Amino acid sequence: MRLGLIGLGRIGRFHAGILRGVPAVKSLVVTDLDAALTAQVSSELGVEAAASPEALLAADVDGVVIASSTATHGPLVLAAVAAGIPAFCEKPLATTAPGGASLVRELAGSDVPVQVGFQRRFDPGMAAVYDAVRRGELGWLHTVRSTTLDPAPPPQAYIAVSGGMYRDCGVHDFDILRWITGREVAEVYATGSNKGAAWFTEVGDVDTSGAILTFDDGTLGMVSNTRYNARGYDVRLEVHGSADSVAAGWEPRVPVRSVEPGGFAPAEQAHQFFMDRFADAYRLEFEAFTEVVAGTRPSPCTVTDALEAEWIAEACDRSAREHRPVALAEVRV
Ligand SMILES: NC(=O)c1ccc[n+]([C@@H]2O[C@H](COP(=O)([O-])OP(=O)(O)OC[C@H]3O[C@@H](n4cnc5c(N)ncnc54)[C@H](O)[C@@H]3O)[C@@H](O)[C@H]2O)c1
Repeated sequence: MRLGLIGLGRIGRFHAGILRGVPAVKSLVVTDLDAALTAQVSSELGVEAAASPEALLAADVDGVVIASSTATHGPLVLAAVAAGIPAFCEKPLATTAPGGASLVRELAGSDVPVQVGFQRRFDPGMAAVYDAVRRGELGWLHTVRSTTLDPAPPPQAYIAVSGGMYRDCGVHDFDILRWITGREVAEVYATGSNKGAAWFTEVGDVDTSGAILTFDDGTLGMVSNTRYNARGYDVRLEVHGSADSVAAGWEPRVPVRSVEPGGFAPAEQAHQFFMDRFADAYRLEFEAFTEVVAGTRPSPCTVTDALEAEWIAEACDRSAREHRPVALAEVRV
């Protein structure tokens, strides 16, 4: 099949390399607002270039991957769907959850599939946790814990427009916990702090955060995030139930060392960032997208799924700012 890719920044360029290696993708056409970047990626990878998203959507593509800046996601998804072209869109749907909700309303009734890029659902370890929970091996769940620790902060300019820690980083943890439990979050209680660069506070953000999620069946979720984890990119999922406990991410490249004699000793170089930690997951989510485009499976992460994770982020942001528990019903519009 022939796919288009819009946006060739940090993640888009990376996606271009992965898409070229997906067996079902026979041709790829790319575009970015930055024409020099489009020309560079197109010649580096030997793929076609289009002059604009409009030209790309008119170039006989079977599906399109949208990896441009967050504010462009809504308009580009709507343009693809209006042209009848299945779309893969990077998370989040919009810069705020109410913006995402308005996109979901505009897409209601359309039968053109849209898949959102919560790649952790395709991480082999996290998928194995999901399967163990679905097979009932854990009994009833009491505690689900998700950790995302970035090695170092992105530039201040990125943080300033990122929507803050919960929307930019924690949203992946919120999606995976909701997916694993199969439940909705009823209430959150979140807090954050800034002990690193002072500019986090200047742009209204934090560099470290924690959130407690209470699911509608009483399961408790714990989410831990930071921008300062010098040992590497640390993403772990730990799920505890009445019958058993399982974890994803405790493998040789986990960036933590045990000080216990004879304890767990990571043997290999720690994960550096999301590109190496989730290389398999990104490939698998695009393989899934080719099946969505081919019409052989439904979207594995719909806009409605994505919006739920974004409401949780919205509630955490309000909880941390107002120092109080916030019910999801309070933020949903
Ligand atoms: N799933 C993940 O793990 C993951 C990781 C990183 C980023 N993301 C998401 O991917 C998106 C891009 O992030 P990034 O870090 O690559 O940002 P970036 O700023 O590095 O790149 C964005 C690119 O989009 C281009 N662009 C902007 N408007 C455009 C338009 N109208 N048409 C074509 N190109 C346009 C810009 O020129 C730029 O090259 C963000 O929404 C981000 O949240 C997801």
